[in-house]
Amino acid sequence: MTSTTTSTTTSTTAVIGATGKTGRRIADLLDERGQTTRRLARGTSPAFDWEQPEGWARALEGVEGLYAAYVPDLAVPGADDDIARLIEVARGAGVRRVVLLSGRGEDGARACEELVLNAPGIAGTVVRASWFTQNFTEGMLRGAVATGVLAMPAGDVREPFIDVDDIAAVAVEALTGDGYAGRVLEVTGPESLTFAEVASLLSTATGREIVYVPVTFDEFFAAVAEEDGPEVATMLTELCREVLDGRNEAATATVGEVLGRPAREVRTVLAEASFAGA
Ligand SMILES: NC(=O)c1ccc[n+]([C@@H]2O[C@H](COP(=O)([O-])OP(=O)(O)OC[C@H]3O[C@@H](n4cnc5c(N)ncnc54)[C@H](OP(=O)(O)O)[C@@H]3O)[C@@H](O)[C@H]2O)c1
Repeated sequence: MTSTTTSTTTSTTAVIGATGKTGRRIADLLDERGQTTRRLARGTSPAFDWEQPEGWARALEGVEGLYAAYVPDLAVPGADDDIARLIEVARGAGVRRVVLLSGRGEDGARACEELVLNAPGIAGTVVRASWFTQNFTEGMLRGAVATGVLAMPAGDVREPFIDVDDIAAVAVEALTGDGYAGRVLEVTGPESLTFAEVASLLSTATGREIVYVPVTFDEFFAAVAEEDGPEVATMLTELCREVLDGRNEAATATVGEVLGRPAREVRTVLAEASFAGA
């Protein structure tokens, strides 16, 4: 889009994962700011598929800024190869700025983060997020909320759940503002809650009783494997084992520092969420 208004720019920002929880919001915010935005996912035109690298150059042609949400997770084997290849293709396409979404406390994601932070000729930023509040409303736990039973291998651990709107706003600052090159923005919500406390907030928000049932990792694996198969179950179980061990309990001040306003509380996000059909 070309415009004569003062605040617009002709440079294009591509969003990989544009139909997902973070990407959709980021693309919407960029549009609102008058930026030229290219939404990328498997069904877009051009398409972007992590499993079809031969199409990446076309998808990134003419792009200067890039947001990437990797699937299924930066900690899976081979993710670093994909990210290294993405950076190569991006550099070839003329991309100058990359913002990568990562997960807090995931040691396996660090190699991918380093690739982005140290990419020659590219200003790289990592947005390293805690658990999304929207996992309960749009993501993998929406089904559990519908059944009224939140069975997680989380014991009494606390997690500073973050609003995905806040992640999107921080990512857009990193894509459009100055001073974010080479930085890891570790973003969380403002308060750390147990899953039992979230279940209570979900009960209030939905008007139905939602209970938290702490389960073992083996029980969690078996339940996920039955629904989604052993590969997904292995990934999610190992992810939970790693990040729900207490390492991520402390909240950070990053959202407030970047946005100049506090991160939004879980109760606020849940109160505004639609649970239709859940
Ligand atoms: N959930 C959390 O609590 C949490 C916390 C920290 C970090 N993360 C990270 O967040 C990332 C996921 O981001 P998200 O939650 O915004 O996305 P999401 O809601 O999980 O949606 C996945 C996105 O990726 C696209 N996609 C799926 N398979 C693809 C493929 N083979 N090639 C290209 N695109 C594909 C989907 O679009 P199509 O299906 O239309 O192609 C969709 O846009 C993961 O890396 C995860 O580790 C999640």
